[in-house]
Amino acid sequence: MFVTFEGIDGSGKSTQAALLAAVLRAEGREVVETREPGGTPLGERIRGLLLGDGEIVPFAEAALFAAARAQLVADVIRPALDRGADVVCDRFIDSSLAYQGLARGLGLDAVLELNAPALGSLLPDRTFLLLVPPAESAGRATGRPDRIEREGLAFLERVDRAYRELAAALPARITMLDGGLAPTQLARAIRDELRALA
Ligand SMILES: Nc1ncnc2c1ncn2[C@@H]1O[C@H](COP(=O)(O)OP(=O)(O)O)[C@@H](O)[C@H]1O
Ligand SMILES: [Mg+2]
Repeated sequence: MFVTFEGIDGSGKSTQAALLAAVLRAEGREVVETREPGGTPLGERIRGLLLGDGEIVPFAEAALFAAARAQLVADVIRPALDRGADVVCDRFIDSSLAYQGLARGLGLDAVLELNAPALGSLLPDRTFLLLVPPAESAGRATGRPDRIEREGLAFLERVDRAYRELAAALPARITMLDGGLAPTQLARAIRDELRALA
């Protein structure tokens, strides 16, 4: 199965992705853990461009994410799913829809069109959206904020609203979770929900 984690920075995505991968491995499953942007040599170079300094116009930002995604799907995600492994990905298409499509205003259709060749028919089997109040997320984030994290609270609030809109529109795939719960509690809820899938 293909599982993705979404949410603003500091919402707990990397924590839950690692916990889920560990739980699935303990059950004897093969798990490939990856992240966006990144996950391939090209993708990690694109990550450096995206998160480094300097202005990037919204369409260029969306195109760079789509390019990194195309490489990740072809080299990592599809081969893993084809051999029966589980894939756990920290951010995926919904990040582009929320950040570039809605928060930056490119529009969902434009972002979907740009990403269609990268995805083919691939979508996550389940996406977990971790919700934390934008004003609290900054206090949780560690390390030096990257280019996107430096956008400020108003931008984070747009992203938060965008994610909630997507989850409301796609309830069969996207599950909203209270990111304020304890990590172990969240991990249990996530594993339980996935039991219905495989
Ligand atoms: N459920 C949680 N409750 C409180 N703090 C958390 C929780 N999950 C993660 N954290 C902490 O919040 C910070 C950001 O978590 P992280 O998983 O890196 O978020 P993200 O990958 O979404 O940016 C880390 O310091 C982490 O230890
Ligand atoms: Mg993270």
